[in-house]
Amino acid sequence: MKSAWARLVALGAAVDACLLPWELEGQAVPENLKRQVGTVPTPIGEGNRWENGDIPRGLGTQPRNSSIDTIMSTTEIRSAVEALIKEFELELIETPEETHDGQIMFGAKVGQAGCNGSYRTLLTAGIHARERGGPDNLVYFIADLLWARREGTGVAYGGRSFTPEEVDKALQAGIIFMPMLNPDGIAHDQAEGDCWRKNRNPDGPVDLNRNFDILWDYKTKFIEGVGISVASDNPTHETYHGVEPFSEPESRNVKWIMEEYPTISWTLDIHSFAGLVLYSWGDDYNQASDPDMNPFNPAYDGKRGLAVDQPGQEYRAYMPLDVWRNDSFVALRVADAMNSAVDGRHVEATQSVSLYPSSGSLADWMSAQHVLNEDNGVTHGFTIEFGRQAGGRCPFYSDVGAFNDNIRQMGAGLMELLVAAADTGLGDLSCDAVP
Ligand SMILES: *[C@@H]1O[C@H](CO)[C@@H](O)[C@H](O)[C@H]1NC(C)=O
Ligand SMILES: *[C@@H]1O[C@H](CO)[C@@H](O)[C@H](O)[C@H]1NC(C)=O
Ligand SMILES: *[C@@H]1O[C@H](CO)[C@@H](O)[C@H](O)[C@H]1NC(C)=O
Ligand SMILES: [Zn+2]
Repeated sequence: MKSAWARLVALGAAVDACLLPWELEGQAVPENLKRQVGTVPTPIGEGNRWENGDIPRGLGTQPRNSSIDTIMSTTEIRSAVEALIKEFELELIETPEETHDGQIMFGAKVGQAGCNGSYRTLLTAGIHARERGGPDNLVYFIADLLWARREGTGVAYGGRSFTPEEVDKALQAGIIFMPMLNPDGIAHDQAEGDCWRKNRNPDGPVDLNRNFDILWDYKTKFIEGVGISVASDNPTHETYHGVEPFSEPESRNVKWIMEEYPTISWTLDIHSFAGLVLYSWGDDYNQASDPDMNPFNPAYDGKRGLAVDQPGQEYRAYMPLDVWRNDSFVALRVADAMNSAVDGRHVEATQSVSLYPSSGSLADWMSAQHVLNEDNGVTHGFTIEFGRQAGGRCPFYSDVGAFNDNIRQMGAGLMELLVAAADTGLGDLSCDAVP
């Protein structure tokens, strides 16, 4: 039996997000898509553009006609962050575990910490290797914030401007950013150009965005026959979820970040290319009237993931009314900011399950922090799917024009997210308060 969502996918209702239609069916790439047609993918930087003392600067603090011609190689992503750290005296973060290919994952801290060095926002990209441009969007956005603060200016992304006061407000969110959650996968994708999504676990590459410990055991948690989008235990599938939750060093490193910085309450993970701003939950439509009917209650195992419930299979995911209202409103603000920046991909705000249900995702795990750990405050986990489909073999590789549109759209979206988080509440920052 197929769920309503599985049937929707088969009808082509959700064919342009992180998964391609044939991947949702567990099939190989169709023959007619095995060559590049139409767009020419943005070249990858050769050498190291930041090694001679140049400092990354985004499109939000440069003249409107500026453009960036190449995406950053993995070497350049690291050296860009190092250049920002040096120039703006930031603090580097390296996570404890090496990846399968021996890489160290990294990020940095930006903006004002609250009491005892607490950071409230985590911005991440690059968990799906082939979603090119995500790391660039994040690094250039952070660069803009830093340049704008130093020069006392605002930032402008295409048609959307933000004032110097909004720049300050955004920096008050106390940001940790990690541009490359899947460095092995990105290095592989950049070297081979083979539209690589997962990590590089030699025992079977894992979709890191299905490896977090929320609803991981999809065969128990979801209704029977739910589609491959949810997760798969077949290592050849693009949504293979690993042998257990947090089986992968990359996802364990993200967990480490949340343990080191338990005050993080707003998180955004960057993906492409559906044109969506997504809020939790991802297992079923939300409801706010029955707290017991929730993603964690085993009484509802086997019922999750059916769009239109049938008698005896009623389940919708509990979301407290104020969190639901706040998160859907923040998502709407972010989508509107993106749409007012560039006349490119139209972006909509919606609950993540309406794209397709998923298990073990980073964003849902983030939204669950206060349930999984009672000491944590309410957490708000978001996903953005930027950009539009490029022609050819790997629809995730945009051309230079779209790459630049995406940098501007994401700049506006990230800026609005931080301002909206500050408007909604970043927790009490005073050292007198109980955290
Ligand atoms: C952008 O416009 C300015 C003047 O409006 C011009 O001097 C400059 O060469 C332009 N740059 C590009 C990259 O087109
Ligand atoms: C929701 O937003 C309001 C401000 O609009 C804020 O007072 C409240 O604390 C927020 N609640 C949550 C759980 O984010
Ligand atoms: C800040 O750190 C001090 C000393 O470690 C501790 O006593 C206090 O509870 C902390 N305050 C908050 C709000 O975390
Ligand atoms: Zn993705």
